[in-house]
Amino acid sequence: MSFRYFEVTGHAAVYNKFRHSPPEHLIAKIVNYVKEKVPPPLGTAVDVGCGGGQSTLVLSPHFQHVVGVDPSAAQIEAARKRNTAANVSFRVGGAEQTGLEERSAQLVAASQACHWFHLPRFYAEAGRVLAPSGVLAMYGYTLPLPTHPGAPCLGDVVEKYYKEVLCDYVPPESKNVYLGRYTDEEFYKIPFIEEPLVRDESTFVEFPGSVADVVGYVSTWSAFQNYRKQEGDKKSCEILQSFEKELTDALGGQNAPEDVSLKIRYNYFLIMGRKSTKM
Ligand SMILES: C[S@@+](CC[C@H](N)C(=O)[O-])C[C@H]1O[C@@H](n2cnc3c(N)ncnc32)[C@H](O)[C@@H]1O
Repeated sequence: MSFRYFEVTGHAAVYNKFRHSPPEHLIAKIVNYVKEKVPPPLGTAVDVGCGGGQSTLVLSPHFQHVVGVDPSAAQIEAARKRNTAANVSFRVGGAEQTGLEERSAQLVAASQACHWFHLPRFYAEAGRVLAPSGVLAMYGYTLPLPTHPGAPCLGDVVEKYYKEVLCDYVPPESKNVYLGRYTDEEFYKIPFIEEPLVRDESTFVEFPGSVADVVGYVSTWSAFQNYRKQEGDKKSCEILQSFEKELTDALGGQNAPEDVSLKIRYNYFLIMGRKSTKM
């Protein structure tokens, strides 16, 4: 059996090959919100569930120090390779118990991650670690939307694989982000917030990419990783091959998956709240 999407082995390695950093304009919204009540220079930001440091990278120019925290040692190793700036550090740990000092951070950020946390315990920890007037920002993006002028239905193919082909392997946590966009009420029960929460869904980003990039991205889904664990490599290869074929056929079937130029759009959502000055 040979299939090129399996050439990068290990979930962390696959994840970090195909997942992007959040866009600068989303980070600017967060940083500007922090600055409304915290005078610069901004001290510490914590990126919980930092994975390969995708968000740590774009937060680092705005803070004196950024700490990335993730329970996966493989992700932390990838994050260290990606983030070499002197003001960035990483530690293996959970969002519910970061080991960071009380009232030490101006921002606690969670990018495409807090649907995996034990939310009440995470909120207790974020409330402990944030300084008064500090900000909790939770953000993420929905299913990737590949677009091409000659094929209006590529997004339907992605949805079909998430909602139908792999539906029995999709963890509920994944649905909270890709389908629910953190609208479930559990995301809003933050005990330490003094102002109304900010919700923003106006940010999106489009990257140039190919069919191969979309297939690679789908191979990072927890649903696909579950499928591969339960059903084995042969059947998982077949799923990716049929996904690739459906995309290629929708595009007219003329070119190799690497050679078709697409745009791949990611729609972001963001929830932000500020810790009370009295806590
Ligand atoms: C989808 S990845 C997001 C990585 C990165 N923040 C990004 O923007 O691409 C989710 C990350 O959350 C981490 N994670 C899962 N449970 C966690 C927990 N309880 N505390 C902190 N991180 C956790 C996983 O190890 C994984 O690296």
